Amino acid sequence: MTRKLMVAANWKMNKTTKEAEDFMSKFSDLIKDSKNDIVICPTFTSINVVKKGVEGTNIALGAQNLHQEDSGAFTGEISADMLKDAGCEYVIIGHSERREYSGETDGLVNSKIKKALEKKLKVIFCVGESLEEKEANKTEDKIKQQITEGLKDITSEQMNEIIIAYEPIWAIGTGKTATPEQAEEVHAFIRGILKEVYNEVAETTRILYGGSVKSDNAALLFEKENIDGGLIGGASLDPESFAAICNV
Ligand code: PGA
Repeated sequence: MTRKLMVAANWKMNKTTKEAEDFMSKFSDLIKDSKNDIVICPTFTSINVVKKGVEGTNIALGAQNLHQEDSGAFTGEISADMLKDAGCEYVIIGHSERREYSGETDGLVNSKIKKALEKKLKVIFCVGESLEEKEANKTEDKIKQQITEGLKDITSEQMNEIIIAYEPIWAIGTGKTATPEQAEEVHAFIRGILKEVYNEVAETTRILYGGSVKSDNAALLFEKENIDGGLIGGASLDPESFAAICNV
């Protein structure tokens, strides 16, 4: 089974609109021959600028979060309809930073995934263990719990719209990438869990790796059987370094 590689940028809380515009003006040219799917997830304020930048290119637009309700008294939040309206095709859900700093639970992540799918947004669903869990040999337990609870009641048909991102927390922004072998082991484990529930759909689900992916380690990670691309933070902020990963 060959799955098309996907490389997604998670800009986190970085870039003003001017900086986003500068990035786009350089980036689109650098990846025009890339065979991979490319997604950029800017901050909400830069969505419009990035939308203009991706027009007529092979780059898709995504967001970093959404609220699980349709609308209402939720100060500071953003809805799925608003993201669709702004031109987003993808949304990242369950990033470890949102789980840690905004208290997002597996149940909340599940509600957000359902809302995104209901509104026809494709989901990049993040899972990953902490250093403490890894050292206590709890990686598989943690991942299994996040996958099972995060995907509760999700059908096989809906699974076609979900991309999983395995991001070990100890590797995010630390420069400590999981080795290709370490990552492959967890990716294969994730695909095994998906197979139990979704049978052959699990063969087409893309599982991205995230955590200190750079242009010099991306190729070795992406060539592993169950690693279908990456979710890139720090290295996605610079057009040249992100393009080098997209062109792997
Ligand atoms: P990083 O972040 O590439 O800076 O480690 C990845 C992520 O958190 O998505």
